Amino acid sequence: MAKPKILVTRRWPAAVEAQLSESFDTVLNGADTPLGPADFKAALACYDAVLPTVTDAIGAAAMQMEKVQTKIIANYGVGFSHIDVAAAHGLGITVTNTPDVLSECTADLAMTLLLMVARRAGEGEREIREGRWTGWRPTHLIGTKVSGKTLGIIGFGRIGQEMARRAHHGFGMKIIVQNRSKVAPDVLARCNATQVADIETLMPQCDFVSLHCPGGAENRNMINTARLELMKPDAFLINTARGEVINELALSQALWFGTIGGAALDVFEGEPRINPGLRDCDRLVMLPHLGSATRESREAMGFRVIENLHDFFEGREPRDRIH
Ligand code: DGY
Repeated sequence: MAKPKILVTRRWPAAVEAQLSESFDTVLNGADTPLGPADFKAALACYDAVLPTVTDAIGAAAMQMEKVQTKIIANYGVGFSHIDVAAAHGLGITVTNTPDVLSECTADLAMTLLLMVARRAGEGEREIREGRWTGWRPTHLIGTKVSGKTLGIIGFGRIGQEMARRAHHGFGMKIIVQNRSKVAPDVLARCNATQVADIETLMPQCDFVSLHCPGGAENRNMINTARLELMKPDAFLINTARGEVINELALSQALWFGTIGGAALDVFEGEPRINPGLRDCDRLVMLPHLGSATRESREAMGFRVIENLHDFFEGREPRDRIH
């Protein structure tokens, strides 16, 4: 039987690309540039599987077709708000993602951001690199203590739970959770966490708020002016989820007017473009979407895609099918 024909939209770790090329009739993207909607249409017409990632917007426009050759879109990444899953299902295409394997590393990065913004690490590094450091002094770049403070976690899936584990067991933080469904008592008990009914209840109680909910239309602008105003004036907002979850204009105003203590972002609306209102905020740490960027996670994500493809093409249920 002929091997399934697959298209990989970006460069992947070498070990995974090698395995893909061995198992399937694989076309790699040596240029590593994102595909546009027209490229997707062309890909859906001739490949059995398309393997996109977060930089590929596969919206309704890319899927306005009568008939496709593609049977599975196997996404490299856990978030899939860049794919119109309903449109894919309408065309009979299965969609999968890569959960679990990046949870620890993404939570590590959320904790990195939390510590950086609390301890003003970005400002300190900029000062040294720009030759502005004049030496130690008792009042220099005074930050905020992290240990023992209260962390609010919005979205208590696998990554949110890993974040809670680090914060509670590593830094003795008190954990408050907001999640769209009820979290099992034994899951909350692992970090002595309390679940609250809504974001309005969570915000005023927290010294840090970390976002771990999905992106997409449902959560667009979830953090808006009204909710930012509920934060303590010295509290910090951390986002490793998706850029669209925060209204960036509202956040930049909160930072410029100092109504919150600071923010730390790994994801941005319309990335890699950065909202000009955010670019020059001092109390803002920004990283270029590095949540899962470790060799271990990025390889594991690729091998998880391969597992989904084998299951699918060999007639088994792919474990990460998105319903
Ligand atoms: C994801 O997996 O959704 C990340 O944002 C990229 O790792």
